[in-house]
Amino acid sequence: MSRRATGDKDPGLTGPARGAWDWIVPIPSRTSSPARRTPLGSPWWRHSVCYQIYVRSFADANGDGIGDMAGIEQRLPYLAELGVDSVWITPFYTSPQHDHGYDVADYRDVDPLFGTLADFDAMLGRAHELDIRVIVDLVPNHTSSEHPWFQDALAGSPEARERYVFRDGRGRDGATPPNNWRSIFGGPAWTRAEDGQWYLHMFDGTQPDLNWWNPEVGDEFESILRFWLDRGVDGFRIDVAHGLYTPGDLADKRRGEKMPMWDQPEVHEVYRRWHKVLEEYDGERMAVAEAWTDSPEAMARYIRSDELQQAFNFHWLGARWSAAAFRDVVTETLAAVGLVDATATWVLSNHDVVRHVTRYGGGPVGLARGRAAVLTMLGLPGSSYIYQGEELGLEEVEVEPEHRQDPAFFRGGQVGRDGCRVPMPWSGSAPPFGFGPGDGQPWLPQPRAWEDLTVEAQEQDADSTLSFYRAVLATRREVTAGIGDEVTILRTAPGTLAFRRGEALVCMVNCGSRNAKLPSEAGELILSSGPLATPGILPPDTAAWFRPV
Ligand code: BGC
Repeated sequence: MSRRATGDKDPGLTGPARGAWDWIVPIPSRTSSPARRTPLGSPWWRHSVCYQIYVRSFADANGDGIGDMAGIEQRLPYLAELGVDSVWITPFYTSPQHDHGYDVADYRDVDPLFGTLADFDAMLGRAHELDIRVIVDLVPNHTSSEHPWFQDALAGSPEARERYVFRDGRGRDGATPPNNWRSIFGGPAWTRAEDGQWYLHMFDGTQPDLNWWNPEVGDEFESILRFWLDRGVDGFRIDVAHGLYTPGDLADKRRGEKMPMWDQPEVHEVYRRWHKVLEEYDGERMAVAEAWTDSPEAMARYIRSDELQQAFNFHWLGARWSAAAFRDVVTETLAAVGLVDATATWVLSNHDVVRHVTRYGGGPVGLARGRAAVLTMLGLPGSSYIYQGEELGLEEVEVEPEHRQDPAFFRGGQVGRDGCRVPMPWSGSAPPFGFGPGDGQPWLPQPRAWEDLTVEAQEQDADSTLSFYRAVLATRREVTAGIGDEVTILRTAPGTLAFRRGEALVCMVNCGSRNAKLPSEAGELILSSGPLATPGILPPDTAAWFRPV
């Protein structure tokens, strides 16, 4: 396992050994079957917990080593038991898989790798029976180079070229790309077509950017939205939501300037249009923006009352293991979403970033911090996103170069994102750990050490990270149902953050290296992320919830 850490390491801190905790998380009585869970208010997404399914790596029903729709359907009861309200499923549409589905060739079908539309419908129906909403991933910034539109463009159709960003090159014979933009995955953001023109791609060369100035593109995406809404999906995760519009002049990017095509004002018109489409449907349909913005204020522009319902709060994910950093993100986020009368979201990990246990230092310390951070996040008002495998305390895996698949690794020599995408360990003592039927490694090899981290193993252990997540989600439902969004930051020692939510909850996290005194507002313990040996004291790398005095 990798030990890359971006958090403040507290030298000399020794965390408890995994599996050796001699304390008990109070597990609330599970009076609730999934169908009878307490509603957390309306609309449903305002305070929901959404579980991200990375489709290739969640569960494989047909034994080809790659996750699929039927695999998701089979594991839905696990998610109901975990206590999540919704799932976001990464792209499963027809795709040559150069960026694992974020290169879509047909937005209205399921790739045979993952099943059929009928399999999707069956999975959706089962999710709804279990009271789990389903969010699908929409990729509007670019298509696959195998999309029929792009194939027509390459074949020379002028109308089809207008749907993408084709330009003549510069210099002798137009052999230099039209500007100096770089792809996010490394290398130039332009590839030359056979006839000598260049096309823009902010990601891989197999992901040509669409030209959103062309009204045909907007009309097509409205129709795609309706296709999935008609099938019954509850919402969309909007990929690269801060992209879409390319500034008309395609001017060179100046040193130190942010990428000119991010966060253009025109993109908000798209979301106003989609807001109206979502409103036409019953059932509180929603969309969440993947918008990497400079500040919480910029993020909040995507969730004005006539735009999208949510935006991922990457400022929380980006914060170091530091109470001051957490406090800043909490106060700035709540202020920013308050201005537009929206609710916050919180996220620590996803399929594009190093898993948070590893970011926080890895090993027992990283795990303790990861549990503390998630308990803090789930105590905050708004909606939380959890990434598959974090409920097992999984760490980033160091994937050998010969197994790497991520285009970011190949194009840019970046470490790449394969390490957070290794398939889930469900059961057993050898790969594929119940990920699919049969023996042998799945599409990315699983570490042998995951034997102790399978769902099956952790279900037997009341102190496991899985038991902790289940307890927290069930308790959150009981404690926070119907309470307001107001947060009061409490005065506590440096290195700690504590806040109160009305009469319902006091939460405190200790990111420092010393024991910290609890605030006077902290009454009876509800639950904690690690052992609390001394009354009135919160140890380092620990968070806890209390009833307010
Ligand atoms: C997705 C990535 C993907 C990229 C291009 C991102 O934001 O989350 O996984 O590579 O968009 O579609």
